[in-house]
Amino acid sequence: MQAVIDFLKQNEPRFIDELCDYVRFPSVSAQAQHRADLQACAAWVVKHCKQIGLQARLCPTQGHPIVLAKTPRHPIAAPNRPARAATSRRRPHFLVYGHYDVQPPEPFDLWKSPPFEPRLQGRSLFARGASDNKGQNFAHLKAVEAYLKTNTEIPCDITFVIEGEEEVGSKSLAGFLREHRDELRCDAVVISDTGMPAPDCPALTYALRGIAAIEVTLRGPSRDLHSGIFGGTVDNPAMALSQLLAKLRDQNGRVAIPGFYDEVRPLSAFERKQFKRLPMTDREYQKLLGVPRLFGEKGYTPFEQRAARPTLEINGLTSGYQGEGSKTIVPAWARAKLTARLVPDQKPARIIKLIQQHLKKLCPPTVRMEIEAGHGADPYLVSPDSAHAQAALRALRSAFGHEPVLMREGGSIPIVNDFKRILHADTLLLGLALPDDNAHSPNEKFNLDCFAKGALMSAFLWQELSRIVLQRVTPRLSTPH
Ligand code: BES
Ligand code: ZN
Repeated sequence: MQAVIDFLKQNEPRFIDELCDYVRFPSVSAQAQHRADLQACAAWVVKHCKQIGLQARLCPTQGHPIVLAKTPRHPIAAPNRPARAATSRRRPHFLVYGHYDVQPPEPFDLWKSPPFEPRLQGRSLFARGASDNKGQNFAHLKAVEAYLKTNTEIPCDITFVIEGEEEVGSKSLAGFLREHRDELRCDAVVISDTGMPAPDCPALTYALRGIAAIEVTLRGPSRDLHSGIFGGTVDNPAMALSQLLAKLRDQNGRVAIPGFYDEVRPLSAFERKQFKRLPMTDREYQKLLGVPRLFGEKGYTPFEQRAARPTLEINGLTSGYQGEGSKTIVPAWARAKLTARLVPDQKPARIIKLIQQHLKKLCPPTVRMEIEAGHGADPYLVSPDSAHAQAALRALRSAFGHEPVLMREGGSIPIVNDFKRILHADTLLLGLALPDDNAHSPNEKFNLDCFAKGALMSAFLWQELSRIVLQRVTPRLSTPH
């Protein structure tokens, strides 16, 4: 292992240069104009994987391509070495999932340097995708490179699945997993696409929120009207939508949609106690986010509100004239993009139905309502006590030199449920993003210490995880029959 550790240390400057090349691709999956950029980015990842010694290929999909890259598989041992043959048949196999697509960088004017021109400042690398998810996933590639380039035996097989549609709901991945089920059958999935509270506080995330997306449009007059000539005689879709949206939450920060909380599993006293141990005071949190005061569901701490309670947000609100100066119109339409974040045992389909029904009930007869249901994903919750989780905690502890914390996270990674459903594999969420990494915001960055320690953690992880898989197998193998 020392050779691997030394390799990671010695090659860090080159890794950073390579990550800079990676983040230069404007791989914005939400915007059709970037289709070719996603293709080029995926091709770069394949080439890079081949360079570090992986067997890699580009897999086309209906949407953006998926990169599949594997450590070279060990040949089955010769028959004259039965003990070896027995273990190599049961060689552990792990999947590392990541995504090369990124969120739209807008608004551009808030970036201190252009989003796709990486900028190094101290131990931070600024660029869209630096943290979510190119940098975090790249740490795992570098760990595997260290094994391969130093000829250190990797105790397991590793397959990287790096997709280009995570930020738009991973539409192609479930089908891909089904199609490649045999090739992808594994002992566990490893994902670094979540957060950690501080550079000296590594984390294992054992729960994610689910999501349900919906778009609502109110249509009024057949065209924008002069607000002086016609205003006051027809409903204003922007006004009507504002009034309608305002009714979706109450003053206590609760979602005011009948039935919304029906399936919510209450938080246990034990979990609430664990949450209290996480660093960061309410005051620090408020400062980080730049708000004059925090707002959230009464009776819960900010950490509970964002990780373990369901919420409803307006993600986008559009109507009327947005350009320079003024334009006196009654807009013809108004639109809101909404998402609910879900916790066990809420189901996206039911929540979408509840929102739809409620919106229809609230809609005044003076406008026409159109509703489009978007993507959905179930919430995710696994036991932090499993042997896999314990192995991951050991790897985190060794690499970061600090005791890891157990966390629940508010974000969603829809595909984790498909890994469970289709491959029957649990996912270990070992996030490397810091709270101030500005994921999805202007000036996204990745902390290079998290990058370096993340690669080290990955290197340790394969030892720790393989050991528990093999330990489990060995007694069965040695049973005389
Ligand atoms: N990396 C995030 C997910 C995340 C971030 C989980 C922080 C936990 C903590 C991922 O790239 C993401 O943004 N996912 C989307 C999914 C959605 C588009 C279906 C999200 O959570 O908004
Ligand atoms: Zn994201």
